[in-house]
Amino acid sequence: VGETVTLKQRDGEFFNPMLNEQQKLAVKRILSGECRPTPYVLFGPPGTGKTLTVVETILQIHYTLPDSRILVCAPSNAATDLICLRLHQSNLLKQGAMVRVNASFRSEELIDDRVKPYCKDGDDVRKASWFRIIITTCSSAGMFYQTEIRLGHFTHVILDEAGQASEPESLIPIGLISEANGQVVLVGDPKQLGPVIKSKIALTFGLNMSLLERLTSREIYLRDEDAFSACGAYNPLLITKLVKNYRSHSALIALPSKLFYHKELEVCADTSVVTSLLHWKKLPRKGFPLIFHGIRGSETREGRSPSWFNPTEAVQVMRYCCHLAKNENAAVPVTDMGVITPYRKQVEKIRFLLRSVDLADIKVGTVEEFQGQEYMAIILSTVRSHEDMFGDDKHCLGFLCNPKRFNVAITRAKALLIVVGNPHVLVKDPCFCALLEYSLTNRVYVGCDLPSELECLHK
Ligand SMILES: Nc1ncnc2c1ncn2[C@@H]1O[C@H](COP(=O)(O)OP(=O)(O)O)[C@@H](O)[C@H]1O
Ligand SMILES: [Mg+2]
Repeated sequence: VGETVTLKQRDGEFFNPMLNEQQKLAVKRILSGECRPTPYVLFGPPGTGKTLTVVETILQIHYTLPDSRILVCAPSNAATDLICLRLHQSNLLKQGAMVRVNASFRSEELIDDRVKPYCKDGDDVRKASWFRIIITTCSSAGMFYQTEIRLGHFTHVILDEAGQASEPESLIPIGLISEANGQVVLVGDPKQLGPVIKSKIALTFGLNMSLLERLTSREIYLRDEDAFSACGAYNPLLITKLVKNYRSHSALIALPSKLFYHKELEVCADTSVVTSLLHWKKLPRKGFPLIFHGIRGSETREGRSPSWFNPTEAVQVMRYCCHLAKNENAAVPVTDMGVITPYRKQVEKIRFLLRSVDLADIKVGTVEEFQGQEYMAIILSTVRSHEDMFGDDKHCLGFLCNPKRFNVAITRAKALLIVVGNPHVLVKDPCFCALLEYSLTNRVYVGCDLPSELECLHK
């Protein structure tokens, strides 16, 4: 893209004409750098345009501050690639402006073809450091400590999905910021997945709390209705909270909004997109794009693997994928469908099944891999099905018993969400129980018989 195009597209103040007022204000504040050296925080529920605001911010910094050097990071490769992809799609960066740095061991196959041209791996990290926009995961940012760039090289360090990074992980990129005039920006949602910490000792010492979460619980970041009533109750110099959801159909927003966000989420998505599957023939109730499909399958483990899978659910997921991909009047492109399941083994099994029906391009992954992503249709397979271990509910639900994981899983879909799972097990978890009740009262439950406590809701 040449300079002229760029300038023309900048006739307005913003590259992206869609930005709402809060998003614009956030970009302006970050650009002005008034809060330095205090980190600027951009937070809000899923689909409220945090990443979209990050992309605009990067472009603005790049073009208005010619001496800027931006380091953009996220904890996962998926979230990191997404920023690179969205910047690419903006069509506003000249060749050589941005680089995506990968760990040397990252497999090429898993990288989107549109992201590949921007990629350099660890062996090329010295060359990569010449770019003005560097995009990498938090941990891979560590490679820059081995190059000859000055500490303090970057004028801006922006962390997307900062709520998912452990504090030490966040500090890897932040350690490279200019102490003199650097601006750190933390973007994320403390109600979505936090850092995955396996060590009990680390847990005891609080490593499962992200820097974003710890900072935002400090006085200066707190909600203050009296002082900041005009700006959504937060100090606008330091923090912007986004609440307009541009991703999902209202039927998919209602429950997470109630469970996690004080009913603050506003439905603002493009109607033509989120209503596109309302007449799909498999919907139990036309006009309501949710299905809860109850299955009393069996959970299984293989060999010495600790990970669970559930063959009956896997087959049902495959059936739904086939129906969606081959739907006569409104087929969903395979690249716009996602299958989420908390267990790695189930991911493998479903991938295998989908390959056998020529649907290998449907993304299948764990909840962690889906954070930050959105798809037209999402199918969730919850796997756990062992009904008679109720003495120890936590044990029989394992991974599922986590409100943050639940929140991420059910907020990825724009136009259709299908949940496949065993109601007799899921009813023991407060979040899934709420989803079951919501599905029953809205008459979108299909499948097996229900546990007695829910039977009364089933008309
Ligand atoms: N102001 C806006 N107007 C219209 N669509 C928007 C706006 N902000 C975000 N979106 C759209 O909403 C969806 C979710 O945005 P995203 O940046 O991924 O949200 P988040 O990072 O907060 O989860 C994207 O499809 C994005 O294009
Ligand atoms: Mg995001």
